[in-house]
Amino acid sequence: MKKLILTLVVALTAITINAKTLIVYYSFTNNVHTIVTDLQSQTGADMVRIEPSEEGLDYAANNYAIGSALISAIRNNPDDAASYPGIKPVDVNLDEYDMVIVAAPLWWSNMAAPMQTFLFHNGAKMAGKKIGLIVSSASSGISGVEADAHRLIPDGDFVTPSLWIRSSQTSNGHSLIANWLEQIGYNTLTSAIESVATDKDMNINVSSGIIYVDGEFDSLALYNLSGGKVLESSQNGIGITALASGIYLAQINTGKHTVSRKIMINR
Ligand SMILES: Cc1cc2nc3c(=O)[nH]c(=O)nc-3n(C[C@H](O)[C@H](O)[C@H](O)COP(=O)(O)O)c2cc1C
Repeated sequence: MKKLILTLVVALTAITINAKTLIVYYSFTNNVHTIVTDLQSQTGADMVRIEPSEEGLDYAANNYAIGSALISAIRNNPDDAASYPGIKPVDVNLDEYDMVIVAAPLWWSNMAAPMQTFLFHNGAKMAGKKIGLIVSSASSGISGVEADAHRLIPDGDFVTPSLWIRSSQTSNGHSLIANWLEQIGYNTLTSAIESVATDKDMNINVSSGIIYVDGEFDSLALYNLSGGKVLESSQNGIGITALASGIYLAQINTGKHTVSRKIMINR
């Protein structure tokens, strides 16, 4: 048998991954909770609720006195961590997400204070991510909440418009949410995000005319440069001795994403 000299060249092209969305929300009287529960059913996104560390506070009592004091403290000193009310620890790894949808009530023209606390501590970790904003208010316009979101997530890639749902519209939220997802092109946003990253767990080795995949995979296909599929297998160890010299694209489907590598066969 002729000796094959196989060279593996040009490591990696783009990996298309299933982009993940996180919904992070705060809700005092559960309007936002109702909204995001519907949003989650429409998107399948992960969801996390922000909880104040002090339980049982009535932010609306005495003409919204506590809520008003919390917002004033932040307005007076927005760069000081001490201005923000405590929240319970949040078990979430933002690195896992490509898009974050922030949902919060409006308090005195601003974003409700506990949500501001979360963003004050985590907004920088959302740099470069797609950010969607959903605001619930009785009647006030939401530009102040949008300004808070931009201040607290300075490098977020905000999608527009934000979704404003009045308290009285909460029970009709489903169609408003569906329209908004359509408007921002949610499906395109989350399926077209590509990351050019190395997949350390996925390598191809070529030895004695056989391609081996290191790592778990569903299928491997080889394409010629005209795009024609010349081989496909779900078994490891595909013989390629029958293939002519030239460059081929090997696509490994891991079940979660596709890893592409170029292979050059020289005889
Ligand atoms: C402290 C506080 C301040 C509020 N300030 C306003 C306001 O200025 N304008 C307004 O339209 N609604 C205001 N609201 C009403 C809430 O934005 C509205 O009821 C929202 O739907 C509550 O969402 P939630 O049920 O998820 O907490 C305020 C509510 C609270 C508790």
